[in-house]
Amino acid sequence: MNSSLRIGKALFLAVAFLFTLSSVTRADDAASLYKTKCAVCHAPDGSGSTVMGKKLGAKDLRSDEIQKKKDADLNGVITNGMGKTMPAYKGKLTDDQIKQLVAFIRDLGKKK
Ligand code: HEC
Repeated sequence: MNSSLRIGKALFLAVAFLFTLSSVTRADDAASLYKTKCAVCHAPDGSGSTVMGKKLGAKDLRSDEIQKKKDADLNGVITNGMGKTMPAYKGKLTDDQIKQLVAFIRDLGKKK
């Protein structure tokens, strides 16, 4: 095999590998983001039944009240925060991550 072919093959494999990796982590990403950043207050199931969640008055993210809000509204709350206690994640999470979290909250709503 000549060297340019070998480089081509190596590049192809590297790209294929990265592509696989990124599509695998995407779904996991939102779940692990939620677990590390949000579950303290909102509880792993979205119920808000943690010590912090109860103290701060986090609503059940699975409830109709939250689920009937538009994606853009949920996106806005995560981006800009809400009230005195829900932190703003602007600059801390990317727009894409926030979008994935909104999708994750929709999934929580379906598991109710
Ligand atoms: C320090 C605790 C805390 C953390 C951490 C936190 N939240 Fe919240 N969140 C709250 C509280 C409390 C409210 C309700 C605020 C209110 O009603 O004034 C809220 C509200 C919300 C709402 C809007 C619900 C509604 O009433 O419209 C969404 C959506 C939300 N949080 C998502 C998230 C996501 C996603 C994360 C992680 C990136 C997160 N929160 C992290 C405490 C927290």
